[in-house]
Amino acid sequence: MLPKAELHLHIEGTLEPELAFALAGRNGVDLPYASPEQLRSAYDFSDLQSFLDLYYQLMDVLRTERDFTELAEEYLARAAAQGVRHAEIFFDPQAHTGRGVEIDDVVRGLAAALDGAQERHGISTRLIMCFLRDQPAESALATFEAARPWFGTAIHGVGLDSAEVGNPPGLFREVYDRARDAGLRLVAHAGEEGGPEYVREALDVLGVERIDHGIRSMEDPELVKELAERAVPLTVCPFSNVRLRCVDTLAEHPLPAMLEAGLLVTVNSDDPSYFGGYVEDNFAGVREALRLTESQLRQLARNSFQASFLDHDETRRAALLAEVEAHRF
Ligand code: ADE
Ligand code: ZN
Repeated sequence: MLPKAELHLHIEGTLEPELAFALAGRNGVDLPYASPEQLRSAYDFSDLQSFLDLYYQLMDVLRTERDFTELAEEYLARAAAQGVRHAEIFFDPQAHTGRGVEIDDVVRGLAAALDGAQERHGISTRLIMCFLRDQPAESALATFEAARPWFGTAIHGVGLDSAEVGNPPGLFREVYDRARDAGLRLVAHAGEEGGPEYVREALDVLGVERIDHGIRSMEDPELVKELAERAVPLTVCPFSNVRLRCVDTLAEHPLPAMLEAGLLVTVNSDDPSYFGGYVEDNFAGVREALRLTESQLRQLARNSFQASFLDHDETRRAALLAEVEAHRF
């Protein structure tokens, strides 16, 4: 299995239907589906919003610290089987605090799984807290302050997700300024459904270090040139783009053009329970549909470690990069 880092993964998007039913039973939550199979058959999306509606609805089964530990533990076991050696994991605190779950329960629960991940699964981890861009900037600021005790220990970065179009990055300038001052790493979703101007604004106004998705950057040649020159990583999610109809088919995905343009692209799973596969499944999918060469696949794996926030452990980054070079397909 090709060793890789996963840099674009929403932990809530790893909630498999079977676990959703188990947690619903334990927590006394009524799900409007008869079985995990029936729930899975509802995973047919027309756009980002149609996915988000179900994604937020199903989160209602996540109530206790233990629920978050089990969610993350299931992901880590699956990720290890898919060759993941380092994972930078998003979570959406506002989607939980908005339902009355304490942010400390969420973070403590996730951290309990992540803390032992290297020993149990051979996976080093970082946790990135995302703000919901379709909620007011004041809510992001309040969430940021509530999470402050965890900065530098459990939480190492901030991101921006949820419905993109009509919710431009610039609305969140203040919370990103505070995050930078607090020493956190900065990323944002941009150029998924929104145009290249969202990517430009995330870079220029928020000062992000990485762009999540960024596929629509390809519509602006000047932007592509700058992203390549500055080696700004783009965390691309091929299965997600097809399932949310940002791209018609996997065979038409812009990934090869992005590689050709010299962009620092990586391949990731986004919300693997909903989009039909984990990260190695995405690698296998693009390999087949886009006829990627072994050299391109190795480049994607190399990029994933280069783009990762492993700056605190360059020894590990070097060891993981050496594993990529030693890999035999
Ligand atoms: N939240 C979870 N997955 C997302 C995606 N692909 N885009 C925006 N917000 C998300
Ligand atoms: Zn995402």
